[in-house]
Amino acid sequence: MSNLEKLRKECLECSRCPLRDGARQVVFGVGNENADIMFVGEGPGEQEDIQGEPFVGRSGQLLDKYLELIDLDRNKNIYIANIVKCRPENNRDPKEEEQDICIDWLRWQVREIKPKIIVCLGRIAAQKLISPDFRVTSQHGKFFEKGGMLFMGTFHPSALLRYEANKPLALSDFQALREKARELGLL
Ligand code: URA
Repeated sequence: MSNLEKLRKECLECSRCPLRDGARQVVFGVGNENADIMFVGEGPGEQEDIQGEPFVGRSGQLLDKYLELIDLDRNKNIYIANIVKCRPENNRDPKEEEQDICIDWLRWQVREIKPKIIVCLGRIAAQKLISPDFRVTSQHGKFFEKGGMLFMGTFHPSALLRYEANKPLALSDFQALREKARELGLL
């Protein structure tokens, strides 16, 4: 069993914060353990809570389309996880304290996977991983170096479903990601 599989087993037993009580299951992550590119969302929604995998609802279908356009695939060359592993009720934003309790699991995932690039999907992930004052509207698509990794923030797919006018901007962020990955020899 790999270290990441051991970590998943431990995480599935986690009840460190009250979110676990309201969730059907812990949603650990999906993808290639050796991925160079990792995507991080905010937290499971209803479908994710039912199926136990990140981004499998409507926003996940949109994410998969963008990934396909740049030759990325959750079953092949990326890893997808969330800031919090249990669904906040009614899909509310995870609270600061819930994020702070859960973030260790993500840190340990990153330590095992060792991605070169981390893409933050939406404000919650970008503010937690890039900078507390990150603004998606003005800073999306830009790369930031931190701790030997590159971070980029882009629009959350569910925000794109609500406000389609930003879809071309999101597409250009994914294209910038492909360029960066090629530049680094990752694709
Ligand atoms: N939204 C997220 O942020 N993560 C998921 O896994 C699903 C929807």
